[in-house]
Amino acid sequence: MKGAPGGGAPGGGRHDGRYGEAVFRPEQAGEGTRIDFGALAYDDITLARLRELGAGPGWRCLDVGAGTGTVSRRLLEEAGVTSVLAVDRDVRFLEAPPVPGLDVLAADISAPSFAPGRFRLVHARFVLMHLPERDRLITALAELVEPGGVLVLSDAIDLTSGRTPDTPYSMTMRAMWEGLRATIGTDVSWVPAYPRLLRGAGLGSVAAEVHVPPLLPGSPISRFWADTWERSRAAMVATGLVDDTDVDAAIRYLDADECAALSAGMLTAWGRKPASGPAAAPA
Ligand SMILES: C[S@@+](CC[C@H](N)C(=O)[O-])C[C@H]1O[C@@H](n2cnc3c(N)ncnc32)[C@H](O)[C@@H]1O
Repeated sequence: MKGAPGGGAPGGGRHDGRYGEAVFRPEQAGEGTRIDFGALAYDDITLARLRELGAGPGWRCLDVGAGTGTVSRRLLEEAGVTSVLAVDRDVRFLEAPPVPGLDVLAADISAPSFAPGRFRLVHARFVLMHLPERDRLITALAELVEPGGVLVLSDAIDLTSGRTPDTPYSMTMRAMWEGLRATIGTDVSWVPAYPRLLRGAGLGSVAAEVHVPPLLPGSPISRFWADTWERSRAAMVATGLVDDTDVDAAIRYLDADECAALSAGMLTAWGRKPASGPAAAPA
């Protein structure tokens, strides 16, 4: 049945699973490669922003939900930061090869006890969108920033809209967001609010930018979506918005010359902790 969204969970409230369990299980073959396709699409943008914000020698950094660790490693190897603590619930992709300055910690960042220290940079990319209580977590992450340091958050923004024609591609993209919301509570509707949430967490000099990688056949982002849809296919079909034929057509479309669609984008928002005391709360 295709029709109304099937059982979404506004605010991420009605879902049974967690990232890495119902979908995106790290032990499933190829999951590290899927994360790496996302990293290939976005790492240059992320590194440029982090360096622009000052990441470099002398900086102690925290990378939460570090995945395969590409940002952690490039912070050390290219930006020359002093150390990176890479944290993930599952650290199997982070431990090898070792890099001087890279420390790895297996931890759930949602745990109230998560307090690994204070850092000049706290970075989370494509993590908070999958977790409930994003506003509490933003406040908690802001607490881990040392005075004068920065919190940098990147997450996906959905660029399908009421004006997007119902093609297999657009229906599949919508079904992915709906299916992930219903199974693990993923909710990207919060992401445009990040600048305001950072300000509310006491950070100043808040700003944000958006990057939309071009969907070119064979590109890392096209391969990322194709693999993501394969891995979340059951959740997508369960929404009732698409069937297997639609998902297959959308995956073929990504690899076709006639592909003329817009990828989801990445919004990066950042804020700086005042050198002494929190920024004045907004009026
Ligand atoms: C989509 S991947 C992003 C990886 C990396 N940040 C990147 O952008 O390439 C999300 C990562 O967050 C981790 N993660 C999800 N929930 C987490 C939690 N509660 N605590 C720690 N890590 C978590 C997952 O294990 C996964 O490695």
